[in-house]
Amino acid sequence: MRLITSLLISLFPLFSLSQGKKTILPLVPLPVEMNVGAGEFKLGETTLIYTPSEQIINEIVYFHSFIQTTYGIKLRAVKVKPKTGNYIEFRSNPEFKIPDGGYTLGITTNKVLLQATNGMGIFYGIQTLFQLLPVKGKGSLPLPCVQITDYPRYQWRGMHLDCSRHFFPVSFIKKYIDCIASYKMNVFHWHLTDDQGWRIEIKQFPLLTEIGAYRKGSMVGAYADNKFDSTRYGGFYTQEEIKDIVSYAQKKYVSIVPEIEMPGHALAAIAAYPELSCSGMPAEVGMKWGVETNVFCPSEHTFTFLDKVLNEVMDLFPGKYIHIGGDEVLKDEWNKSPICQEIIKSNNLKDAHELQSYFIKRIEQIVNARGRTIIGWDEILEGGLAPNAAVMSWRGVEGGIAAAKQKHEVVMSPGSHCYFDHYQGKPEGEPLAIGGFTPLEKVYSYEPTPDSLDMDEVHKILGAQGNVWTEYILSPQQVEYMSMPRMSALAEVLWTPPARKNYENFFERMRIHIKLLDVRGINYCKTAFKPSSK
Ligand code: ACM
Repeated sequence: MRLITSLLISLFPLFSLSQGKKTILPLVPLPVEMNVGAGEFKLGETTLIYTPSEQIINEIVYFHSFIQTTYGIKLRAVKVKPKTGNYIEFRSNPEFKIPDGGYTLGITTNKVLLQATNGMGIFYGIQTLFQLLPVKGKGSLPLPCVQITDYPRYQWRGMHLDCSRHFFPVSFIKKYIDCIASYKMNVFHWHLTDDQGWRIEIKQFPLLTEIGAYRKGSMVGAYADNKFDSTRYGGFYTQEEIKDIVSYAQKKYVSIVPEIEMPGHALAAIAAYPELSCSGMPAEVGMKWGVETNVFCPSEHTFTFLDKVLNEVMDLFPGKYIHIGGDEVLKDEWNKSPICQEIIKSNNLKDAHELQSYFIKRIEQIVNARGRTIIGWDEILEGGLAPNAAVMSWRGVEGGIAAAKQKHEVVMSPGSHCYFDHYQGKPEGEPLAIGGFTPLEKVYSYEPTPDSLDMDEVHKILGAQGNVWTEYILSPQQVEYMSMPRMSALAEVLWTPPARKNYENFFERMRIHIKLLDVRGINYCKTAFKPSSK
C-alpha cells in the first residue's frame, strides 16, 4: 500500500489529495521533483527569517521587501537559529549537491527551509515561494507543505525584445526582466539596433542617436496596405540608463545579451554616418518594415567604426555573449561595389557570401580580444562560420544542427515555435500581427535538442529563446500580450525534464497562475485560455 501511495505521489505529485480535494499548485515551470504533504505553514507577522549564510543577504532583503510591499507583512530577521517554529531558514552552501541554479525547498507546518549552493539557487527558490503564496492576503498567509528538489535543464533560457521597431521605456524593460526572472529564465536578448532606429547611446558617435534614433514616420496597419503616418518616432537608452538596467538584471540573475545588427539591418546607423555604406549616399532611417539593401560596407572605415562601437557596448554589458546580428544581408550593394570586389579579390574570397563570413570573422576578432564570444543569427554559417561563434537558429533548426555538428554553441529559436510576434489565436480575434500561428500548445510542445545530434553534440545546445519582434507591437501592454502566456510555456520547456511535461497539467496550473499576472498588472492573451484555443 505504501508503495502504491508513493508511486501515486511521484506520478501525480501536483495533486494534494488531502480531504479528498484535488489541490493544484500553480508552479510554472514545474519543479523537477515535488512531493506535496498535508497541512500548511502560516506566514505572518510572527514569522522569523534566519540565515547562517551572509553571501545571500541580497536575496533575503529581496524576499523581505517583496513580502512587505505585497502583503504589508514586515518579517523580522534573527541572527540565532530559532529553537522552534515559525521561521524561514535560507541556507547557501557551496558543498550542497545540486546542479547550478538548483535549490531544495522544504515546507512543513512550523518551518520553511530553502537551500542552494549560491544566491542564484536561493533566488529561484524564492520565485517558487512567491508562486506558492496566495496572490493577495493579509495577516496569515498559507504555504502548502511540500518538498521540492529543483534545477534547470538548459543554461540559456531566453527572451528577446526588439526595441528598434518600437521603443519601450526603461520602466518597462525592468518589468520585462522581472517577468523573465519570475519564470526562472536567465537571458534577456536586447535588440538595440535595426533599420528603423538605433537605440543605444555611443559616446564616440553621437549622431547614431541624434539622427539614427528617430524616423520621420512609421508604417501603419498591415504591410500589404503600404500606408505610413508622418509622426516623428523614436528614442534611445542613455549609457547611464543601460548601466542601471544591467545592474537591475544582475540582481535577478538575468544576463543581458545586447544585439548590434551588422552588416545588414544597419540603415539607422548609415543614416547617421552615410560613409558606412558602399555608396556613401545620404540615407534616412527606415520607415518601412522588411529588409533593406543598404547595408554596411566591409571597408576598413566600417571596421574601425564597429571596433569603437563594440568596445563601448562591451564596457556597458559585462556578459559573455555579444549578439552581432548577421541575418538577412542582401548582397545587391556588395555585388555592385568596386570596394567589395577589391576586398573579395585581395582576400581570395569566392563571392559575396564568403565576404559576409569575412566580415563576421573580423568582428569576432574585436569581440574575442575582450574575452567575449559573438553570437549571430544562423546566416553566419554561410560562407564559413567564424572560429568561436555561437549560432542562434531562427530559420528552422537546421542551422542549429549544422553548427552543433561543427562543435559550435547553439541557441534554438526557430520561427515555428519561438516567434512570439506570430498570432496565438485565430487572426479574426487577435490584434494585427506579422503572421504565422504559434499557439500556446505549440510552444509547449517544443523540444530544443534535435534527435539527429550525437552524444558529444547535444551539449552544444545551450537552450532556446522566445523572440518578440515589434513591427506590429506598439506598446508595453501589447508586448506582454504577445509574450504571455507563451513565455511561461517556453520557461517550462527550458527548465522541466521532458518526462515531467504534460500540456493539460500545465494548462490547469496556468489557469490558476494567471491570477498572479492579474495582480502584478501583466497583460496576457485571454483567448489562450478559452477551451477552443487549447
Ligand atoms: C530574424 O528574425 N530576422 C532573425
